[in-house]
Amino acid sequence: MKLWLVYDKFEAERNRRYIDFYFEKCKEKGIDLSLQIVEDGIDFSRLPHIAIVRTMNPDLSEKLEGMGVRVCNSSFISRIANDKWNTYEYLHKNGIRLMDTCLVTDTFTPPYYPMVLKPCMGKGGRDVEIVNNYEEFCAYREKVKEKTIAQKVASDKGKDLRVYVVGNRIIKAMLRVSEEDFRSNFCLGGKAVEYELNDWEREEIQKVISLFDISYAGLDFIFDNGKIIFNEMEDVVGARMLYTHTDIDIVEIYLNFLISHTNLT
Ligand SMILES: Nc1ncnc2c1ncn2[C@@H]1O[C@H](COP(=O)(O)OP(=O)(O)O)[C@@H](O)[C@H]1O
Ligand SMILES: [Mg+2]
Repeated sequence: MKLWLVYDKFEAERNRRYIDFYFEKCKEKGIDLSLQIVEDGIDFSRLPHIAIVRTMNPDLSEKLEGMGVRVCNSSFISRIANDKWNTYEYLHKNGIRLMDTCLVTDTFTPPYYPMVLKPCMGKGGRDVEIVNNYEEFCAYREKVKEKTIAQKVASDKGKDLRVYVVGNRIIKAMLRVSEEDFRSNFCLGGKAVEYELNDWEREEIQKVISLFDISYAGLDFIFDNGKIIFNEMEDVVGARMLYTHTDIDIVEIYLNFLISHTNLT
C-alpha cells in the first residue's frame, strides 16, 4: 500500500517526531510512506492509494479525490470542520444540539451578553474570548478582522471533552480541564484525564459521527448544565494527549484501520 502524509512546511517541522513515528510504523507494516510538503510541490505523477492530509486545504483534498486518491479525512470533512460557521450550519441543519451561534456580519451586534467570540478558522483557543458588553465586542472586532462567530457561553466553563474517533468508531474520550482559563485547550495548559462516557453521551456522540465518514478525527464537546454539547471537529487532530496520558497507540489503530479498509487494486 502506498500512503502519503501531506503537511505544510511549518507543521511538518513542528511535528517531526510524530512524522518519524509514522515512518517507523509504516516500515513495520510494509506500507510505502512518503511525506509530501505542500510548499515544495505535490508529486501528482505518482499518486498513492491513500493521502492522509494533515493540513487545512480542502481544495487540494478535492483535487486528489478527483484523481482517484482516497483522502483522509475527506475534503467534505475538511471544509466543514475547519470553519466553525460551516460546522455550526451543517450540524444544526442535521438536528445536532449546539450552543446558540450567529455569524458576526458588519451589521451584527450581540443580542445578549456575555457571548463567546471566535474566529471561524482559529485553532488552539486563539482569539477565543468572552465579551461582556458592547465596548468589549467593539474592541474585539477592532482586533480580530477574520470571519467570526458569536456563541452563547456554556455554563460549565474551563472544561471540555475530546473524543477520538477512528473509522467512525469511538476510541477514547479525554476530559480537558483548565483552572486558569475558560478555555480548556491542552496547548494552553489544560489538564487531561481519561473519561468514561455514559450511555446518553455515547448516543449524542454517535449522532454527530453518523453525519460524517471519519477516518481519524477528534470531536470536541463542551459542557452546559452538566451535559455535553457539540463544539467542534478537529480534522487534523493531534495525538499528544493520548500518548501522554494513556497507553492507546492511536497511530497503530489508524494504520490498521486504513489497511483493512482499502481496496489496493
Ligand atoms: N460557547 C462556549 N462556552 C464556554 N466555553 C467555550 C465556548 N466555546 C469555546 N469554549 C472554550 O474555549 C475553548 C476553545 O474554543 P474552541 O471553540 O474549541 O476553539 P479552538 O478551535 O481555538 O480550540 C474550548 O475548548 C472551550 O474550553
Ligand atoms: Mg477547540
